[in-house]
Amino acid sequence: MCGIIGYVGPKSTLDVLLGGLRRLEYRGYDSAGVSVISAGGNLETRKKAGKLDNLVSEITSHPLPESHIGIGHTRWATHGAPTDGNAHPHLGGPTSKLSLIHNGIIENFGALKAELLAAGTKFASETDSEVAAHLIAAEFEKTGDLPKAFANVVNRLHGAFTILVIHESQPDVVLAARRNAPLVIGLGDGENFLGSDVAAFVEHTDRAISVGQDEIVILRAGSVEVRTFDGAPVTPTEFKVDWDASAASKGGWSSFMAKEIADQPQAVADTLMGRLESDGSVVLQEIDGLSAEDIKNIDRIIMVACGTASYACDVAKYAIEKFSRIPVQVELSHEFRYRDPIVTERTLIVAVSQSGETMDTLMATRYAKEQGAKVLAICNTQGATLARESDAVIYTHAGPEVAVASTKALVAQITAGYLLALFLGAGRGATAQAELRRLGQELLKMPANVTHVLERLEPIRELAKKMADAKSVLFLGRNVGFPVAMEGALKLKELAYIHAEGFAAGELKHGPIALIEEGQPVFVIVPSPDDVDSLHPKVISNIQEIRARGAKVIAIAEEGDAEVGNYAEHVTYVPKCENIFSSILTVIPLQCFALELSTAKGLDVDQPRNLAKSVTVE
Ligand code: M6R
Repeated sequence: MCGIIGYVGPKSTLDVLLGGLRRLEYRGYDSAGVSVISAGGNLETRKKAGKLDNLVSEITSHPLPESHIGIGHTRWATHGAPTDGNAHPHLGGPTSKLSLIHNGIIENFGALKAELLAAGTKFASETDSEVAAHLIAAEFEKTGDLPKAFANVVNRLHGAFTILVIHESQPDVVLAARRNAPLVIGLGDGENFLGSDVAAFVEHTDRAISVGQDEIVILRAGSVEVRTFDGAPVTPTEFKVDWDASAASKGGWSSFMAKEIADQPQAVADTLMGRLESDGSVVLQEIDGLSAEDIKNIDRIIMVACGTASYACDVAKYAIEKFSRIPVQVELSHEFRYRDPIVTERTLIVAVSQSGETMDTLMATRYAKEQGAKVLAICNTQGATLARESDAVIYTHAGPEVAVASTKALVAQITAGYLLALFLGAGRGATAQAELRRLGQELLKMPANVTHVLERLEPIRELAKKMADAKSVLFLGRNVGFPVAMEGALKLKELAYIHAEGFAAGELKHGPIALIEEGQPVFVIVPSPDDVDSLHPKVISNIQEIRARGAKVIAIAEEGDAEVGNYAEHVTYVPKCENIFSSILTVIPLQCFALELSTAKGLDVDQPRNLAKSVTVE
């Protein structure tokens, strides 16, 4: 969950570290800190509880010396409260010449700490991470070989960790180790970088290496060496980062989330690009890892994901089953892994993740692979662990998503799910080619439709401002509108800290209708009245039922729906499209509503309380 950066090279290290931390702050914002080694050879550290701005103020009051090597950290607290003392870096050894930052959880820290306490080590924090700092410093005292001492200690650690270390006695090297937590190397000209993801250094280089499981990096300005934890040399593979730095900046918007909502036409267009021919046929070259035979043999798809990404799976289920007739099961990754699920060699796992580092999803896919299943990832982040560990990857080209609340990544995931559904429909021969091509052509219209929705959001913004005092908001939908309702509720919970629930509209009379009382705001996602199998009349009945009990209905409906306006206090219309694709459009007003309501309450929309964007612990 934490963000880490390391640098060695000719630039001002502090500028590189703070710039990188600014782009990584979405990973955690409980505290931040940096250590540098000055040109004179002194290790200096500044760290502060709270957001990165607090650290910047601290450095302004207590400036750091010019330096060409350093490490930086932004924290999402696990062990120890978010205080100055628990902020990283942590110093190791009695003379504090070693500095360490850590992302993850060291599960055996209790036993290791007991060992250090028995040897008289004094601790300055309550963190698990400080244990590693003292152990490496002590091992270095014994061996006099920093890389060896580092390797000896990381081999003793259990759990999940990316660890970066610098030592005053060796001012030209940053050491890093990775187990079950992300680490990427940025390759520069006479300079090199380390980061939790490529956002850390995207401003400086587009050449990167994704570090593998249980690997150690020895990073100098002019060289990068990768070894396994056992010391065997690794020949890493370089990749080109296709994000640019401007995509990870606010660019004049009031928040990253506002910008990312506005980026959505591009996110959908870029995810479709090169994958949909003008005649509507789908080309998914990325699925080369899965042969035509593999696809024919699939007897079941299990989609695994968490949070918003799981709602993208719920939408994809409707489309995949409809077009390919392959049964699809959607599972929250954390529930799937630990309930002894039935997975065979004929199961296709589709793992969906913006970050590609969500530990619950990684554990679910690893488990499925052990059972012999093939794994297809839908992922937004190049070089991410999920992408590395899957048999095939469909990248969603949403660009960097910085706001903690997912928006453009979701619409890109949904788009990729639709592409997959059409592809499998063709591969299985379950839907006529002409129909699939017609649907493909409809999908090609979606970027323009998204733009159309974005241009007409002012009324829902105004509504959100008036509802800043709401205590509870409900969301109802059917078919692909159901996951949209769930997402609308999640957005409101995480951004505005308001109680919100999403329900299948048909489920209402089985219990939730008891929640309806005078004035209860209820969003209803209304399906197209024109669809052949339209659930429109049923949803209109659901609206009548809640109105009769005092609900205030806010509808998201299709343009031309003549009926809904008679029963709702507020209607946001979205363009007419194929009903199965409508989720891409109907979710946008809900994102905008949550953003505006959060803003009206004076909350931080990009960094909501208690959350981190990449949940890299189970
Ligand atoms: O990186 P991932 O897509 O795997 O993340 C999954 C969830 O943690 C994420 O979607 C989370 O629910 C967001 N905060 C939702 O806005």
